[in-house]
Amino acid sequence: MSNYHVKNLEEYYQVYRKSIRNPELFWEEIAEEHFVWKKRWDTVLSYDFSKPEVKWFEGAKLNITENCIDRHLRVRGDKTAILFEPNDKIEEAQHITYTELHRKVCKMANVLKEQGVKKGDRVCIYLPMIPELAISVLACARIGAVHSVVFAGFSSSALATRINDCEAKMVLTSDGSFRGAKTIDLKGIVDEALESCASVNTVLVVKRTNTDVTMKEGRDAWLAPLLENAFDNCAAEVMDAEDPLFILYTSGSTGNPKGMLHTTAGYMVYTAHTFKNVFNYKEQDVYWCTADIGWITGHSYIVYGPLANGATTVMFEGVPSYPDFGRFWEIVEKHKVSQFYTAPTAIRALAKENLEFVDRYDLSSIKVLGTVGEPINEEAWHWYNDNVGKKKSPIVDTWWQTETGGIMISPIPYVTPTKPTYATLPLPGIQLALMDEQGEEIKGNQVDGRLCVKFPWPSMARTIWGNHQRYKETYFSAFEGKYFTGDGALRDEVGYYRITGRVDDVIIVSGHNLGTAPIEDAINEHPAVAESAIVGFPHDIKGSALYGYVILKETGEGRNHENLRKEINQIITEHIGPIAKLDKIQFTIGLPKTRSGKIMRRILRKIAHNDLNNLGDVSTLLNPEVVQNIIDNRLVVAMK
Ligand code: WTA
Repeated sequence: MSNYHVKNLEEYYQVYRKSIRNPELFWEEIAEEHFVWKKRWDTVLSYDFSKPEVKWFEGAKLNITENCIDRHLRVRGDKTAILFEPNDKIEEAQHITYTELHRKVCKMANVLKEQGVKKGDRVCIYLPMIPELAISVLACARIGAVHSVVFAGFSSSALATRINDCEAKMVLTSDGSFRGAKTIDLKGIVDEALESCASVNTVLVVKRTNTDVTMKEGRDAWLAPLLENAFDNCAAEVMDAEDPLFILYTSGSTGNPKGMLHTTAGYMVYTAHTFKNVFNYKEQDVYWCTADIGWITGHSYIVYGPLANGATTVMFEGVPSYPDFGRFWEIVEKHKVSQFYTAPTAIRALAKENLEFVDRYDLSSIKVLGTVGEPINEEAWHWYNDNVGKKKSPIVDTWWQTETGGIMISPIPYVTPTKPTYATLPLPGIQLALMDEQGEEIKGNQVDGRLCVKFPWPSMARTIWGNHQRYKETYFSAFEGKYFTGDGALRDEVGYYRITGRVDDVIIVSGHNLGTAPIEDAINEHPAVAESAIVGFPHDIKGSALYGYVILKETGEGRNHENLRKEINQIITEHIGPIAKLDKIQFTIGLPKTRSGKIMRRILRKIAHNDLNNLGDVSTLLNPEVVQNIIDNRLVVAMK
């Protein structure tokens, strides 16, 4: 990418206006100037939101890994591409140069091919934050296989659901993973998942923890010897612009997780362009995003965006609290990190600890700080600004989604004046609208509404894998001709956006999207549970935490509630993963329902927030009498 960055706010507005006046021309110029294509596109954009169908750069041929790796070999072959920082301080960091990355990706790609993976096949990657994770992602892209990375904190049954949904042929995993002081038996989780996955015929295993594992004859193989014998060059598959690149699952408000499908050219152009501009990226920088590659943030802003720019991208295997709460800052000092991108949850957790953990380290290399994944509260923003950025580094509060593929609303550092809790302005090419409940666009400033996008952008998800109808209903049906984000937002007097949170039943806990329905389904599997409802409530570290209302069957009524709570959380851990555990569980005689039988979550939410003044008219409920009972028995003190 060129080294040019927008210099001031006036120039930002100029670029923005240009991108709106002629989006095709805007994106075409970027695509032309900054990427290598095997064949040029015929049409920049064609779309129809009523279907919905969106195509960018149709007719073009490319391979994203040539853009992320090969083209850098000549100019920066010896530059570090991936800087791996292990869980334990005593293990040395690994500097993988672009030349080495090319070799490793080619070898891995050849192993995948030898194992029968073909273009279009789905490969499930269930790996910890070790270099093999990024390498596998790129190896899939190299041969045109569709990767589906599943965050290695998900349980075996969540993993199985995701494998079955996309009918993955292969799983890449490791014997175990290190997370702080803990070792997790990943292979065991995979084995359990695969008991119900007929599509998988190969499991390749990275050795990381030396944990004892069972290798199933004819299905499982260690990766290392295969890699050793593989040829270290592999021609990049020629891909069409709209060929699938990956599937990534995200929770919805109902039903199974949604496999968001991203395609090749538009995703590449958008993530690379936003990476450079949002992080003010320059050639000598060392960039670090603390997310896991199992989430979209890691896909777009650890792997593809940074590598497409020839950047050095840090991959950290561990956690911020191990061996102590200074670990992040120690890494910043050690590798002279220039951009640091993390989640508000991590900031809040670190802000609770002694400042000495921060002050001990030299953070003067930092020039841009970022946040992502959930609203950041004012206190956390100031803590980050004062203590990490020393009031010198702009904070980019980046709003976006798994579905959007890349950052949509964000300050441009050193250009857009920041305002705590505001994601500020749309990036070039992004046309936002706030809508009222009647479906009308709310114009002007100092207003709030539901956040929509009016015009396609290159990295938008094209469909939900295997369920286009659901894609249409979820994102394109609430407001005609617009993509609905599911978030509420307000626009202030100068046109800055502040995201106010989800307006659907998705709850964001520690930056992870959790749908209420799958958690309720899991709880209802407990033999003593008749029915349940989950809502979010404010939590000072996690942003939101989960509050569950549970009706017991008669058989469960005499049971010890503490034990039941433990069992319910155990079931949730098994079905979804520990991230979805409930902080509070209230056993109740009923749930407030409308006459059509729908649970009135609004009321439950208010009770969980301890906000009892504004419950609204409960007399129209089917069972108004339960409301007082729920209030009387509410849990105000956090459960341990
Ligand atoms: C929320 C993460 C406020 C939002 C990249 C969105 C945010 C959901 C922000 C998507 C932000 C993300 N401020 N809220 N800066 N960024 N969100 O798919 O509710 O894991 O819809 O993508 O996170 O979460 P997802």
